[in-house]
Amino acid sequence: MVFDEIICRKNTDSLKYDFAAKQGKPEDILPLWVADMDFRAPDCVLEALAEKSRHGIFGYSESSYDYYDVLRDWFLERFDWEIRQSWLIKTPGVVFAVCAAIRALTKKGESVLIQQPVYYPFAESIVQNERKLVVNQLVYSQNQYHIDFEDFEKKVIDNSVKLFILCSPHNPVGRVWTIGELTKIGDICLKHHVIVVSDEIHADFIYPGYKHTVFANIKPEFAGISVICTAPTKTFNLAGLQISNIFISDEKIRHALRSEIDKAGYCQANIMGLVACKAAYQNGRGWLEELKAYLNDNLCFLRNFLKERLSAVKLVEPEGTYLIWLDFKALRLDDNALEDLIVTKANLWLDGGLMFGSGGEGFQRINIACPRNLLEQALTQLEKAINS
Ligand SMILES: Cc1ncc(COP(=O)(O)O)c(C=O)c1O
Repeated sequence: MVFDEIICRKNTDSLKYDFAAKQGKPEDILPLWVADMDFRAPDCVLEALAEKSRHGIFGYSESSYDYYDVLRDWFLERFDWEIRQSWLIKTPGVVFAVCAAIRALTKKGESVLIQQPVYYPFAESIVQNERKLVVNQLVYSQNQYHIDFEDFEKKVIDNSVKLFILCSPHNPVGRVWTIGELTKIGDICLKHHVIVVSDEIHADFIYPGYKHTVFANIKPEFAGISVICTAPTKTFNLAGLQISNIFISDEKIRHALRSEIDKAGYCQANIMGLVACKAAYQNGRGWLEELKAYLNDNLCFLRNFLKERLSAVKLVEPEGTYLIWLDFKALRLDDNALEDLIVTKANLWLDGGLMFGSGGEGFQRINIACPRNLLEQALTQLEKAINS
């Protein structure tokens, strides 16, 4: 199986593999933290990049009609969502778009709502742009997460929230929000004039039995208040190529975001990102299906390992994403001691739950998008550390 191959990423300027010492971690630590995969991108992407490279000219570039056509087919086929070319704004990343949306759609001091524990750049983007961070904490009970809608609406009203950043599917708790949940949230936002930035970067990783719904596709009124953030970069492991596709059907919101991006001095996308995105969406379907089957098997492996050998660590059963949220609370360690166990004793680099904000205490996030042997090695190191 192609995904079993262990490809050495050391000395490749990899954020995951080459900067442990700089970040105060042991040089030989096993990294399963940042959200990229230890798999080579699909051949269709490698060939398209090689062809562009052979052509040898990397001048200013723009996406052509067929770029849009490929995107349209992808979202229609996978999410039954019909995009229009005029809605598209390309950015070098989703976090870039989130930051630009915060600046474009709110004023300094105004409130932006998120649902912690959540992908930590959301809180950083709000605070760094001098907006007020408001949190609707997700409720954890019986190993599952759900939304406290009453608290959500109260936070919106009490803080005159202007913008809500939705993580859908949710990193790190792994929820794939149902249409019912998204509709409740959307209705509250509509009622109180809150714009929704929906980060759907993980939408292609949904486990069997679940279905991703594009927030803007639920009803036209939701489309009118939303900024939908998508990218091929998680799906096809292209994060270093920096390309994301943001869709906004409302003209006023779109112009506000475009103007903010213009102010940042960004106009043309990276040519290699455009080439890779088009090739992946055009010809990467087969590869993605194989990858998803492999990730599902990795998840089963992790689930069984925890059940049979590490029952003190609880899996928060994911519905989507390859980032798995593990509950270490039964060990009764404070977060410093837990970090010490993971880093010093197990020699593993995971993402500590506290980074994700309130409700993250006692959790760790592990990235299972790696060859199974590496996952087994990591879990064995963890087992030894806990047992000692
Ligand atoms: C929810 C979420 N949004 C955005 C990103 C990063 O996106 P980008 O590299 O396009 O900024 C990640 C990466 O982990 C993520 O998990």
